[in-house]
Amino acid sequence: PLINTLEEAGYEAYFVGGSVRDVLLKRRIHDVDIATSAYPEEVKAIFEKTVDIGIEHGTVLVLAEDSQYEITTFRTEDVYVDYRRPSGVTFVRCLEEDLLRRDFTINAFALAEDGQIIDKFDGLTDLENKLIRAVGVADERFNEDALRIMRALRFSASLDFDIEEKTFEAMKVHAPLLEKISIERSFIELDKLLTSDYWRKGLRNFIDSKAYNHLTGLVGKEAQLENVLKNIKSDYFWFTTSEQAWAYLLINLEVENCKDFLKKWNVSNEFTKKVTNIYEAYKIALERVWEVKDLYKYGFDAFMYAEGLLEAEERDIDTSLLPQLTMKLPIKSKSELNINGQVLMNHFNRKGGIWIGQIISEVEELVVNGQLENNQDAILEYVE
Ligand code: CTP
Repeated sequence: PLINTLEEAGYEAYFVGGSVRDVLLKRRIHDVDIATSAYPEEVKAIFEKTVDIGIEHGTVLVLAEDSQYEITTFRTEDVYVDYRRPSGVTFVRCLEEDLLRRDFTINAFALAEDGQIIDKFDGLTDLENKLIRAVGVADERFNEDALRIMRALRFSASLDFDIEEKTFEAMKVHAPLLEKISIERSFIELDKLLTSDYWRKGLRNFIDSKAYNHLTGLVGKEAQLENVLKNIKSDYFWFTTSEQAWAYLLINLEVENCKDFLKKWNVSNEFTKKVTNIYEAYKIALERVWEVKDLYKYGFDAFMYAEGLLEAEERDIDTSLLPQLTMKLPIKSKSELNINGQVLMNHFNRKGGIWIGQIISEVEELVVNGQLENNQDAILEYVE
């Protein structure tokens, strides 16, 4: 309806950005961005309730139908400064010019109210081939904004996309620019990468791009980063929380002091505390992992065991039972299931420990028979 309203007032308006990409990929969408030929003052004159959230960039927040939408005027960007931001923007009436400034072809679609897709850079072909490709000249895109290097890596992890060759080469060339932008922004992208479904692919690309060599604390840590991948034997392992991902990363990076490391990355004290707790539990679990060595063979590694320890502690469960319990699991086949320590402990708690083996057998049978998808969400939904 907002697009209609803008059109009725004589302007052009489209959905743009990541939400169009996600609609085309049938993924869940979060923020909906609208781009329009109307200038900010004109947008404000059309809608009753608006908030200026970045009017100098052309963005007005419109409150309508119990929701809020960012409406941004078509714009081109002036010269970039700091390898991160343009020195200013120029509002334009033409959609095409707006799409030209965007980072990747899959992020440069516009979707009209009637469902028509405007695809200036052959993004639909890239979507089909699962490729991340820079719009126009890749070197220019990364030179304008170095964070895009981290964004490309993160999208490869969240979408299971490869990075197109020329784009990847340009990322390698411009990786040193990451040193010039704030570490907090790189943290956010790396964090999203690690907690994505295809984090292995993202991390592989992160290592291969050598981007890590330009981030504090990761310089020269190629072998350690490789260990992050090697030490998790199951292909079906996801980090359930950011804290878990970072604890695992820091263990593998052989970081002695989590606090010092995370301080350099400007993360909050609360986050640091949580990461440190998991890190410590993991160390204990590594010492005790021989007790669950049979499970270890099947891909349940010490990290999951550590999660169990933490969960048990939180719920005041006697942890001395954990090894015995985990040993009882009747894993007969080698099919690896997406069940992590947390799920294990949830059921240990709920059912007194006796039924976990049965639940796992049941889930395993369904997966083997193709009646249940072998992914974390599906299994969790079934088990819950
Ligand atoms: N964009 C860009 N360069 C950036 C950041 C954003 O060109 N460094 C453009 C892209 O067209 C992007 C849009 O702005 O799609 C919106 O950016 P943002 O909301 O940060 O990311 P999304 O692509 O929407 O991805 P997601 O919301 O899934 O993180």
